Amino acid sequence: MSAIRACVFDAYGTLFDVNAAAREVAGKPGHETFALVWQQVAQDWRAKTLQYTWLRTITGDYVDFWKITEEALDWALEASDQAEPELRELLLGLFWSLKAYPEVRPVLQALKDRDVPAAILSNGTKEMLAAAVDTAGVGDSLAAVMSVEDVGTYKPAPQVYDLVGETLGLDRDEVLFVSSNGWDAAGAAGYGFDTLWVNRAREPVDRLPGKPRRIAADLRGLPGIVAELQA
Ligand code: LAC
Repeated sequence: MSAIRACVFDAYGTLFDVNAAAREVAGKPGHETFALVWQQVAQDWRAKTLQYTWLRTITGDYVDFWKITEEALDWALEASDQAEPELRELLLGLFWSLKAYPEVRPVLQALKDRDVPAAILSNGTKEMLAAAVDTAGVGDSLAAVMSVEDVGTYKPAPQVYDLVGETLGLDRDEVLFVSSNGWDAAGAAGYGFDTLWVNRAREPVDRLPGKPRRIAADLRGLPGIVAELQA
């Protein structure tokens, strides 16, 4: 097994809190009705977003991740009887400035201090990812931000994971891939990356062919894992 030479992160749910937009609106005065259903809306929004990436991949109907994010939100709002244009715009606007999880900045800094390049590989569009990176203030800690836009399909298609080798010039076993999405961790592990599944939601391991070699509750232990893998 080769030494790990870079950490590649999934974006939404791993570095950036996908539920932050709905949670923030739920806390605003005047949104008391939404506050009653925001968790269901957030859950549906995320689930439909992911389903649409997979379904559109199967049917060959690619549209970018922003379009999918909008369409998934429309479904989620209607399902909870919340289909109002103002609320929709508010939620979509906040999606451009999602908060990073609290440990993200120090962990990325720790990797930088160890000279381990960190990068993002995400379904998000380049524009969406640039905005999230900017909000989190982590641009200086990232060697690359890779988007599926460059291949026009979605994770876990192998062409997406190919972007890592093409961009960073590394073999699969030199990459530690980090994702909070069980299915993405499974896809990356099946592809041949060493994989850390950040199981923030404490879910069971996905019954898919690839199995992540490592599992953690959040990113805090990552610098230690990388140190061990470099030793
Ligand atoms: C991403 C989604 C899958 O950032 O979380 O690619």
